[in-house]
Amino acid sequence: MKIKSVGYMGIGAPDPKEWLEYAVDVIGMMPARAIPGQGWGVPQSGEERNDSGLAADGSAYLKMDDRQWRIAVHPSNSSNGLLYLGLEVEDKLALEQAVAELDRQNIDVRMGTETEACDRAVSGIAYFQDPAGNALELFYGPVKDYNFCSAHLGLEFVAGHLGLGHLNIFVEDLQTNYDFYTRTLGFRLTDYIRMGPDSALKFLRCNERHHSVAIIGMGEINGLQHAMFEMKTIDDVGKTLDRAMAKGIKITSSLGRHRNDGMLSFYMSSPFGFDVEIGCGCLLVDDNWTVNEFCEGDVWGHHGLVEAVMASSKALSRQ
Ligand SMILES: [Fe+2]
Repeated sequence: MKIKSVGYMGIGAPDPKEWLEYAVDVIGMMPARAIPGQGWGVPQSGEERNDSGLAADGSAYLKMDDRQWRIAVHPSNSSNGLLYLGLEVEDKLALEQAVAELDRQNIDVRMGTETEACDRAVSGIAYFQDPAGNALELFYGPVKDYNFCSAHLGLEFVAGHLGLGHLNIFVEDLQTNYDFYTRTLGFRLTDYIRMGPDSALKFLRCNERHHSVAIIGMGEINGLQHAMFEMKTIDDVGKTLDRAMAKGIKITSSLGRHRNDGMLSFYMSSPFGFDVEIGCGCLLVDDNWTVNEFCEGDVWGHHGLVEAVMASSKALSRQ
């Protein structure tokens, strides 16, 4: 199976509007100009027009590039965190072949209906789960809306064919999830850091981006630790840090540069129950890359990151 990118994510939050404001005012994303499922030929005019990013059911939709949307925040009192992850495949044939492959491996998978695909603004969709219980969706043919414009002058994200960024996910059973992501979904191991027996952080890629998913085995914990969104310039990373500090948002890790993916970034709390990393300069790898183990997290900075990861693991283990 060939996954092309992590295309979209759905989050549950008690107040999606709070997330919308955070994503727009602090991160610099844009409210989707049309809600998935809404007739295109949009932006519509007059009363029909809805470019608030808010759907009738209270969900918020955000865009960060020329995809109609990348992040959906759905009202939820029970689940504050990741609801689903959209993994992009090439086309209809690739989707059908992927579903057949999952079926052959006795993985519970269901092809979605046209209405369900429309609800995600894609051409085709299928549903299944990873061994940690995360809801995954295979899709192809996303709707595009080329008019991304951040409210913060000139801010642009590095997304497109590389996907929305990356996600670091705690998984209770590291080996089973590692096998699933690499052997079943076809992700490739870029590098890893060992933290003890059966405890490691494995960085997995599905395109040139150093990693789109990292899985962390740190005991009996499942859940999203952080999501990373990459910006084109260091100035936009710095300005985002300024905006976060001005809003009194907790900075969970200072600016720093990671040793393995070369990313210059900082981490902050979000209203979603997981941290958000904002960075630039992520390493792109090609076929000459070979897997390696590394033993030093950062070239400089990122003070507070280890403590933030420990705090996330404690919070998730209480859920
Ligand atoms: Fe990260």
